[in-house]
Amino acid sequence: MYTPQVTIRQFSISDYSEVRALELNAFNEDNSTYYIELYQFFPDSFYVATVNNKVVGFVVGLVTVEKIGRIFSLAVLKDYRGNGIGRALLKKIIDVLERKGVMKIRLEVREDNEVAKNLYKSMNFKEVDIIPYYYKDGCSAIVMEREGLLWMNY
Ligand SMILES: CC(C)(COP(=O)(O)OP(=O)(O)OC[C@H]1O[C@@H](n2cnc3c(N)ncnc32)[C@H](O)[C@@H]1OP(=O)(O)O)[C@@H](O)C(=O)NCCC(=O)NCCS
Repeated sequence: MYTPQVTIRQFSISDYSEVRALELNAFNEDNSTYYIELYQFFPDSFYVATVNNKVVGFVVGLVTVEKIGRIFSLAVLKDYRGNGIGRALLKKIIDVLERKGVMKIRLEVREDNEVAKNLYKSMNFKEVDIIPYYYKDGCSAIVMEREGLLWMNY
């Protein structure tokens, strides 16, 4: 099996056009300007995966005022899926958010997205709620949560 040499690193503004293209590739929609707004508030919660300096995946997270971690978006370029890149990005953002002391991490996923639900379940996310008609096409969202570690600051 072909195993690409993957690097996970923090997003930088020069990655923007590649992230935008990847967003369109993965979701057929473009929320990339919103990601840039989030990046301005949470520059250390936006990561990209690269192979030979090409951006092949990204993950965007944030911490709410209630100290809840949110994973806002996760995507891998179609041709690079099934190589562990999605899991590596997810592990990275979980680590970053938990180090910030979040009580839990929450995300929404399409009810029909079995691949993503499998990935999240395998990383100890549990289905806690359902939001009907959450997506533009009427698909429901499954809300998933993972209990965070409590980091003590002395
Ligand atoms: C979800 C996504 C990020 C996964 O990325 P990936 O790099 O292919 O994932 P990985 O190779 O790390 O696989 C991780 C796990 O996902 C699940 N998975 C991956 N491919 C799968 C498939 N074809 N069928 C079922 N489950 C699958 C498995 O649980 C897998 O773990 P395993 O390899 O131990 O069995 C990718 O499919 C994607 O970008 N999808 C479109 C965007 C999207 O749906 N994002 C999530 C929004 S909430």
